[in-house]
Amino acid sequence: MAKIAVLGFGTVGSGVCEVISENHESIAHNAAEEISVKYIVDIRDFPDSPFAGLMTKDFSLVENDPEVTIVVETIGGCRVAYDYTRRALLAGKSVVTSNKELVASHGHELLAIAKEKNVNYLFEASVGGGIPIIRPMTQCLTANELDEVYGILNGTTNYILTSMVQDGAAFEDALKEAQRRGYAEQDPTADIEGYDAARKICILADLAFGKNVDPDKISVRGISGVTANDVEYARRLGYKLKLLGRAHRLPDGRVNAYVSPHLISKTSLLSNVDGVMNGIVVHGNALGEAMFYGAGAGKRPTASAVVADVIDAAKHRKARKYIGWDDSEEDYLADFMDQPMRWYVRTGSGLREIGTAFGNLRLISYPGEYPGAGPDEYAFATPVMTRRELDEKLRGFDVRSLFPILD
Ligand code: HSE
Repeated sequence: MAKIAVLGFGTVGSGVCEVISENHESIAHNAAEEISVKYIVDIRDFPDSPFAGLMTKDFSLVENDPEVTIVVETIGGCRVAYDYTRRALLAGKSVVTSNKELVASHGHELLAIAKEKNVNYLFEASVGGGIPIIRPMTQCLTANELDEVYGILNGTTNYILTSMVQDGAAFEDALKEAQRRGYAEQDPTADIEGYDAARKICILADLAFGKNVDPDKISVRGISGVTANDVEYARRLGYKLKLLGRAHRLPDGRVNAYVSPHLISKTSLLSNVDGVMNGIVVHGNALGEAMFYGAGAGKRPTASAVVADVIDAAKHRKARKYIGWDDSEEDYLADFMDQPMRWYVRTGSGLREIGTAFGNLRLISYPGEYPGAGPDEYAFATPVMTRRELDEKLRGFDVRSLFPILD
């Protein structure tokens, strides 16, 4: 019998307790032993919960109980979650988490403690919700030299963009619905402004390329500046607007990682990844390309991934799984400004300025041609150039949107 403790009884933590209770028999079969929740740690009271009898506010009960061998951390953030995770690992317990902020910021250190204590720190649910992606990256794809990983990594923003495009929903209404469905972070700024996707692409880059990528050091842009006009212009060009996290290895070994809205071709696999779904594309020298697709957020899909890690931790109690990455050098991250790409530009500047800066460009839209465009708005796609070169050409322009194009 494996006794576990669940830290944090929010959306994911309560989902974990439900899945363990509902699928008790099949989980016992898959883990080759029974798994039961002994404690739920939360500062709040849940008197009406069917799990009320397991609640405590005192983490030291968990820390000092030798019967508890696996701790599930679903508190989120880097304060209490960091403290409890360290203490649980130091007490010789395996820790399973959905907390991408903690893994992205402190994963390197926490994995080192897990190694020292011969226990596991597992985080399948930290990227892609219910999609199996961490295990493929650390097991199934390890014969490859991976050179690129990118994808739709945030369910909330994908849900919002899809609702805006397919149902004509207003941004705020779509966000409220995403919150109601349990997709959004407690503070949805992390979703909207791209920080959540940044944490996830950094975890994927850590695993793909073997060295730490700091989410605070990469270029991050979310969807708050995206308008209905951008969506319409993208459509005219044969593209869809999606928020992507992307990391790729350069020939000199450095890594370029960033988050931004992109125009992606309607023929690309990711263009049909809609609603709360996430899609992650991995490219390796033996594999070629593979895409992982599924529910990227929500209580039960995320709990599904957490509980699978609990089962894995139970099965590997005496055999630590090797997961980890090295520290990175100061210059490991390449400058986003120097990466050559095609760009989509929406501007309030006139034809003469555009012609002088870019020569003969085919415009996607011009004033008056489209009712929403306004009297003074042009949109166009550039040839391949770096962002630094583009900024130079756009000096003095009234730039309203500027996104990379992924063909
Ligand atoms: N807020 C996150 C999202 C939850 O919307 O993708 C899953 O990590």
